[in-house]
Amino acid sequence: MSLLASVRPCYRAVRASLQACLQTHGSYGARSNSTVHALPTSTKVIFSGIQPTGIPHLGNYLGALLNWVKLQRDAHPDDKLLFSIVGWHALTLPQDPKMLSASRREMLAVLLAIGLNPERSVIFYQEDNPHHTQLAWVFNCITPMGKLKRMTTWKSRLATSRNAKDESEVDESHLNAGLFTYPVLQAADILLYKATHVPVGEDQQQHIELCRDIAETFNRTYKGSSPLFPLPECMITPTPRVLSLKDPSSKMSKSAPDEKSRILLTDTAEQIKAKVRGAVTDPTVGVTYDPQSRPGAANLLTILAACTGEDVMQVAARYHDKGHGFLKADVTEAVEDMLRGPRAEFERLKGETAYLASVAAAGAEKARALSEPTLREVRSSLGLI
Ligand code: AMP
Ligand code: TRP
Repeated sequence: MSLLASVRPCYRAVRASLQACLQTHGSYGARSNSTVHALPTSTKVIFSGIQPTGIPHLGNYLGALLNWVKLQRDAHPDDKLLFSIVGWHALTLPQDPKMLSASRREMLAVLLAIGLNPERSVIFYQEDNPHHTQLAWVFNCITPMGKLKRMTTWKSRLATSRNAKDESEVDESHLNAGLFTYPVLQAADILLYKATHVPVGEDQQQHIELCRDIAETFNRTYKGSSPLFPLPECMITPTPRVLSLKDPSSKMSKSAPDEKSRILLTDTAEQIKAKVRGAVTDPTVGVTYDPQSRPGAANLLTILAACTGEDVMQVAARYHDKGHGFLKADVTEAVEDMLRGPRAEFERLKGETAYLASVAAAGAEKARALSEPTLREVRSSLGLI
């Protein structure tokens, strides 16, 4: 029996504590003074999106998706929740149409499998609501290129595309414009529903700041009796950046070439075990939480703490005189225990194509009904009605 199993015999309680432990930075639950919305001041509109570019990994889950489920559970009945599978964003990188079509369906099955409830949350494909791209065009026309050039996602794409060490060496002329304006479409996704809260991982924080800038610019430029858009708040979980198991200097990502660098939500117990066993750590004896000089071990401790709902330092203290093998065994067990339920539910749902299609159709209808008035207000502000 692993140490973790001996220390924490009841994983149901652990999962419950994980749910309880999810928090956000800033004024979670409260509205910032700057937030303006037609709804009563306490009402939240929560929006987030995920690209249909493959099965989500542990980083997506701990950094974002689990928070979506928790927000759904804790939301006030008046709060609105919208979760979108953002196909237009996926096109910024080359996609095989057949695979993309399968991936978006799988993503919908995943969202349902982890516990999102289509009766409570609006779950829909972005491309099923044409208002997203229409509002994105309006925002493209008020967003300075300079701001988009400062987006770290754009800068890293540029750097990767040239394999350049120095950003000043890179040439953008061959990159597609969609990669550049991607955060503008994201702002449209959010503001179309006048969202007040956006739960995402750390890598998206800058995009949410840009979204606020765009909302402010629009409100300032087209002054009405009251500002049209709220300034949405970014909600970050305590696990905002899960690292690659193979290269702990970078985040866990769907696109990294080494499949062993990430744990997928659909991985079997055996696959989880093999991937955690192969995770890069360091030769120092005894485990300590030191993200700077021991990022591999720190990442495993962070994952374990997220699974158990404990403080990472508390978790680390249990392993100070143990080898990495002990830690890995417990991480394996904790992750498997957390993913077992969603994995089984995904397997059940993924073939239910008619059901998935009906969920998507109902979600799209609700989304369009919610965004229609915003687009009308925008067109009226612009003089395009
Ligand atoms: P994407 O797969 O890029 O559409 O990301 C979906 C969500 O997962 C976003 O909110 C990201 O910020 C979050 N996310 C992606 N990778 C990670 C990671 N390695 N750690 C934590 N959150 C992540
Ligand atoms: N850009 C996000 C990502 O890559 C996905 C996304 C698109 C999103 N639109 C959004 C996230 C709106 C939050 C809100 O992960």
